[in-house]
Amino acid sequence: MSRKKIKEIDNTNTKKTEITDDSFLDQTLRPTRFEEYIGQKHIKDNVKILLKAAEERGHIPEHLLFYGPPGLGKTTLAHLIAHETGRQMKITSGPAIEKVGDLASILTNLAAGDILFIDEIHRLNKMVEEILYPAMESGVLDIIIGKGPSARTIQLDLPPFTLIAATTRVAMVSSPLRSRFSGGVFRLEFYSNEEIAKIIERSSKLLKIKLEEEALKEIAKRSRFTPRTANYFLKRCRDFAQIYEKGKEKILSQKICKDALNMLAIDDIGLNSSDRKFLEILIEKFNGGPVGLKTMSAALSEEEATLEEVVEPYLIQLGLLERTARGRVATGKACEHLGFNTKEEKQNKLI
Ligand SMILES: Nc1ncnc2c1ncn2[C@@H]1O[C@H](COP(=O)(O)OP(=O)(O)OP(=O)(O)O)[C@@H](O)[C@H]1O
Ligand SMILES: [Mg+2]
Repeated sequence: MSRKKIKEIDNTNTKKTEITDDSFLDQTLRPTRFEEYIGQKHIKDNVKILLKAAEERGHIPEHLLFYGPPGLGKTTLAHLIAHETGRQMKITSGPAIEKVGDLASILTNLAAGDILFIDEIHRLNKMVEEILYPAMESGVLDIIIGKGPSARTIQLDLPPFTLIAATTRVAMVSSPLRSRFSGGVFRLEFYSNEEIAKIIERSSKLLKIKLEEEALKEIAKRSRFTPRTANYFLKRCRDFAQIYEKGKEKILSQKICKDALNMLAIDDIGLNSSDRKFLEILIEKFNGGPVGLKTMSAALSEEEATLEEVVEPYLIQLGLLERTARGRVATGKACEHLGFNTKEEKQNKLI
């Protein structure tokens, strides 16, 4: 299989690299130690115990699955665990493992104690998934040699390894696979505004950006409770200031951040144009719902998966949208935020 499908990270001799390029900033901003990883206390507490107990027993840690909306820190956690335990991590993703042979080659090339990180595990095909079951459970690889009546199965012993997997769509991970994550299945939660503010503060120090307390709060408030978005906004505010505030004091003010984020069409509660469009169509065209996801996807010309994974979780978190058995429903709060009359107000006017 091609080298592109798998990437290796060796934590046995980690060196800090200089920041030279913006495209590497994401990696640089990634916390590599538990103390730097802000929030998700429940997960951190449990994972720390699991790692420590395994280490004390002289065992390798058990398999872990992390799930939750994009940008909340799943990949970061996998890297952090590899770093904290000083293990080598091999990285691949569900869609990259096309054939059974691809997975067999990845597994047989692991060294004892390695971590294998499979991102987007919900996109693993069924044949490949079945090879993974005995590998996770008993550390063996069942390979079928030959075809038809002469086919026979041989079993190879694998080096002991820890599988860490991540997904934004846990419902698409089959339950037999889910149940084989013996170390636990953990859901990442949205961050609080205070946690996001801490993340921005940390990132601003790493990027050498100075910003006022109010500016920090302004970015945090609009960051969709998501670290990736917070870091992205911080960088865009810095760019905005660099271009529009030439020669002035190099400290980001609340006003600069407001202007920069308004220019990105992010409103004061963090809704972007897709979120607003979603709610506007739901309220205007469908009288607030309930509307099925398929209909919303057709009305917005947007994939169902994108709506479900990216747009809806934040709207639900803010209490602007409800998922009911009959479909999606916009709440009174959503009508209020977008300046529409609520259903009740409309009905009162008709009476
Ligand atoms: N708890 C945290 N503390 C500080 N920074 C964080 C934390 N979680 C995530 N980040 C930052 O957010 C960025 C995005 O996180 P990450 O790539 O791990 O998200 P993800 O859950 O894997 O997203 P996706 O589902 O899109 O792959 C990271 O580069 C990191 O800088
Ligand atoms: Mg990721």
